[in-house]
Amino acid sequence: MRFEVRPIRVEFGAELEGFDVRDLDEQDVRKLVDVLADRGVVVARNQRLAPDEFVALMRRLGPLEYSVRDEFHLPENPDVYVISNIMENGKYIGNPFDGFGWHTDMNFCERPTAYTALYGLEVPEEGADTRFCSAFRAYDLLPEERQAFLRGIQVRHSHDMLHATRRNAPPLTAEQRARAPDVVHPLVRTHPHSGRRCVYLGPKCAVPLGMAEEEGIRLLDELLALATDPGHVYSHRWRVRDLVIWDNRGMLHCATEYDRQKYRRLLHRVTVGGERPF
Ligand SMILES: [Fe+2]
Repeated sequence: MRFEVRPIRVEFGAELEGFDVRDLDEQDVRKLVDVLADRGVVVARNQRLAPDEFVALMRRLGPLEYSVRDEFHLPENPDVYVISNIMENGKYIGNPFDGFGWHTDMNFCERPTAYTALYGLEVPEEGADTRFCSAFRAYDLLPEERQAFLRGIQVRHSHDMLHATRRNAPPLTAEQRARAPDVVHPLVRTHPHSGRRCVYLGPKCAVPLGMAEEEGIRLLDELLALATDPGHVYSHRWRVRDLVIWDNRGMLHCATEYDRQKYRRLLHRVTVGGERPF
C-alpha cells in the first residue's frame, strides 16, 4: 500500500489518503513515522479498527504505554484506554472529563508519550472537537536571543499538580503517586527524528526552576499564548471511524466540550512511550 499525504494547514497536520492499517508494510510504517515528525498530527478517515488491530498498529510505532490511572482501560484489552461519557451499571465506561486545556500527554513522566492515537467509535454531532497547535511554531517565532535564553531553562513537571485540576477524580493512591513523582525537563526540547526544537510546556502542572514562581508561570503562560494563537489551530471535527495520531514532541492538543446529556461519545486511545526530552 502507498498512502498519500495531504497537508491540513500550512504549518502542520496531514490527512492520509488511501491509508489502511491492515495493509501497512515496513516502508509504510517508516513513512508514517516521517510524516508524524514532519506534520505533527495525521488524520485517516474511515478506518475499521478492532481493539487488537489498533494496538498492533501502535506497537509498530514503539513500546506501548500504560496510563497512571487504572479505571478506564478496556477490560478485554488493557492497552486500550477508553474516553467516554457512556454509563453502564451506574459507572462511566471511560474517562469522561480529561484533556480540557492545552497540554501534551504524560509530560509529568520521565519519558513522556511520543505518540497518542484516538479512534472514534461514537461521536457527537456537534462539539467535542480535538484541537491541535504547534509548539515548533511558537519556538520558531521567537528572536534568537530569546530562544537561547529559553534553552537554558529547566522545568519541574508535576502529576500531583495536574491531578488537583481534574474534575470528579478520586485522590491518587500512594501507589499511583509513587508511579509518577515530579520530573524535570528542558523548556526547549529537540525532536529526536527531525532535530527541530519546540517549547515543551506543561500547562497548570509545570514550574520553571531558578526563577520566582510568579515569573515562571508568566513565562509559561506567554509561551502557551504564542503556541495556541487561535489563528494557528487545527480543530478536528470527529466522524465515526476517524483515526487521529499525533506526535507529542512538538504538538499541543486539547479537548472541547459537548452536550453530555444529548450525545454519546466513545473513543479508544492507545499511546506509545517516548524518550527522555533533551
Ligand atoms: Fe491528552
